[in-house]
Amino acid sequence: MKKLFVVFAGILALSMIFSATQVFAGGQGEPAVEGQIVVGLSLPTQREERWVRDRETMIAEAERQGIDLRVAVADADMAQQASQVENLLVQGVQVLILAPHDAHAATSLVEEAAADGVPVISYDRLILSDLVDVYLSFDNERVGELQGEFITNLVPAGNYIVMSGAPTDNNAALFKRGAMKYIQPLADSGDINIVSERAVDNWLPENALNIVENALTANNNQVDAILAPNDGTAGGAIQALAAQGLAGGFPITGQDAELAGVRRIVEGTQSMTIFKDTRELGTAAIQAAITLAQGGSVETNNVVEGVPSLLLTPHVITADNIDLLIDSGYLSRSQIYGD
Ligand code: BGC
Repeated sequence: MKKLFVVFAGILALSMIFSATQVFAGGQGEPAVEGQIVVGLSLPTQREERWVRDRETMIAEAERQGIDLRVAVADADMAQQASQVENLLVQGVQVLILAPHDAHAATSLVEEAAADGVPVISYDRLILSDLVDVYLSFDNERVGELQGEFITNLVPAGNYIVMSGAPTDNNAALFKRGAMKYIQPLADSGDINIVSERAVDNWLPENALNIVENALTANNNQVDAILAPNDGTAGGAIQALAAQGLAGGFPITGQDAELAGVRRIVEGTQSMTIFKDTRELGTAAIQAAITLAQGGSVETNNVVEGVPSLLLTPHVITADNIDLLIDSGYLSRSQIYGD
């Protein structure tokens, strides 16, 4: 076992060195190849599987397009992200792709980039600054609508636990707004009783677990539906349900089409997830970065908080259409169902 761990740690260390040299091949300021476009990418986390895929997609697309992409990942920590972004700016990146940990706090980073003449692409999560050049994401209010419509169709009356994502993430507010379009009218009419309505700090599954555990205790386990904003928080919630023998007993939403979430849909403990093809988003971001570096303007289809935006379409996944994930190559049949 110990031997195995040492081998694994060795491989991990090697792969980290490899990816670091690959990513920072050009060194401070200098592109890896003369005349190459240099782009900075700052991601907020790798905790949720989707962010791993965003990173991998962008690295692959940058390689394909022959641009020098410098990648920094913060561990859901704004101070860390701020110093990483400042470092990217010092390296002389020509465009910054920034997925903020904190929508408000990241505005000062956008100001710093603007002062250096570096255009900023707000990636997946909106940074609340008019200096953002373009916002690339999914239709996040629509994500919430799909979740709200789904759960109220299944449970038009009863006791609801309503969770929302991290208050620092603008997406969390959009998801909730969308979902409440369906839930609130039924709460107003008295059909739905919201027994707990809480934000999940930092999107942490363990915080969702605590919220659900407390709500179950306070209501003698009389809960009929849970709005969980993503698969991570759904996972925490389902752990709390399992501890009471309630997993699979009533509908619970999710988002991200994470492998663990999709497997729970197959086993019947989670009711749905939202598929956002982050491969499309990552590819669009690299293309947008190239366009901005060349002084062009990025094609958009929307305006969010005054920022020109490209919003991609989210899709509901239930046990009935998991093949959509398999056919698009997002997850494989053997990953989902085993061999
Ligand atoms: C993303 C979700 C993700 C969540 C937690 C949101 O901003 O849109 O896909 O699950 O952050 O990382």
